[in-house]
Amino acid sequence: MGTIPEHVNIDDICLSDPEFWIADRAYREAAFATFRAERPVSFHKEWEFEDAPFPVGPGYWALTRHDDIWHVSRNPQLFCSGQGSQVGDMPVEMNEFFGSMIAMDDPKHFRLRSIVSKAFTPKEVAKVEEYVKVKARLCVDRLLEKFPERTCDFVSEVAAPMPLQIICEMMGIPPEDEAQIFGWTNVILGVGDPEYVTTIEDLMNVALSMFTYAQALGEDRRANPRDDMTSIMMAAEVDGERLTAQEFGSFFILLVVAGNETTRTAIAHGMKALTDFPEQRAAWFDDFEGTTRTAVEEIVRWATPVIHFRRTATADTEINGQAIKAGEKIVMFYQSGNRDEATFTDPQRFDVRRGLNPNQIGFGAGGPHFCLGANLARREIAVMFDELRRRLPDLRITGEPEYLQSAFINGIKRMPCAW
Ligand code: HEM
Repeated sequence: MGTIPEHVNIDDICLSDPEFWIADRAYREAAFATFRAERPVSFHKEWEFEDAPFPVGPGYWALTRHDDIWHVSRNPQLFCSGQGSQVGDMPVEMNEFFGSMIAMDDPKHFRLRSIVSKAFTPKEVAKVEEYVKVKARLCVDRLLEKFPERTCDFVSEVAAPMPLQIICEMMGIPPEDEAQIFGWTNVILGVGDPEYVTTIEDLMNVALSMFTYAQALGEDRRANPRDDMTSIMMAAEVDGERLTAQEFGSFFILLVVAGNETTRTAIAHGMKALTDFPEQRAAWFDDFEGTTRTAVEEIVRWATPVIHFRRTATADTEINGQAIKAGEKIVMFYQSGNRDEATFTDPQRFDVRRGLNPNQIGFGAGGPHFCLGANLARREIAVMFDELRRRLPDLRITGEPEYLQSAFINGIKRMPCAW
């Protein structure tokens, strides 16, 4: 990223414009800094995409300050998720089909989350940790074997495979089906980026295939439980109620999407930052155990893999002095909140020892939808960098990242590395 300009004219900026999301990153940082300073709550129209399956919506309020995002996230009665977690509007049933509990409110959300969170307790995550270590080790083994010239694409060879393998292993998906799951996630990943030319039809077909696959998996584990998280979820009861195979199908789609690109993105941005700021790399790697907790949190703040999520106001209210009417959409720009100079000292500095208070909001800003996989993701990031530092201590990024064209995931598609 180049030098961040001091000020940009925000009058002409529409945050829905795809051009904004492929513009120079320094310009984008400056634009958000100016929004935070001059118009922290701003209104934007929605973009008319060609071939969009639903009519264009009425626009939304964009939140750019950390404290405002915190306020909205922690007041779910006033700012609900059940009308959609993405900017565009879909029928409620489709929101739930694609979004599962991320697009629900209590009591439905609470019930589902209580059931599936039985598979994400510290004890279960600790069990997963063992194979996180195995996958990281195998990943580095493969690098050493496959690339004697000691150079490769960091994203496809290092950052991408592990998070997906972990989800598959965790859910009890047999290794021979992993490639199929990977293919499906690539179609979903492609939305918005012309390189992948994903059509709505492709997307629907993939969602349906994943849903059918998951339903069959869930039913199988209900009948023949094994030592995997699918079996735990299918057996768990809350107030005498169990997850239906259909609910599990939607949750599975959410899990594969939510746990996959996000962790990959964090690892990729993390490696880039450790290359760009060698003194931070030394600070972490010289005291790995002592620094890991803050370093991982800083990587997630720095990367902010999920750019935004949406809520909808359920009553007339006010955010930071701006009147908001019932029914209006609110979009929380986590990326901007994580660079808020009113919250973080010197936010444009990557600092592996940055304190944990105030909280970074890469996993959400608290409230009922806070990332269910946060502890798992933290462990995956820590274990991967531990493996890299021990076995490939000279690994560095050697070229510019190619970024994903997306207003939703701060993804990196390719990025060369060498060791
Ligand atoms: C660095 C990696 C990750 C990042 C940055 C991330 C980020 C997020 C964010 C921003 C939310 C929405 C929070 C809100 O609305 O308040 C979320 C929700 C969620 N995440 Fe993650 N996530 C990551 C990894 C994972 C992993 C590994 C899993 C599971 C394997 C996962 C599962 C979920 C689920 C199920 C939800 C929905 C929770 C609910 O609606 O109650 N995430 N995540």
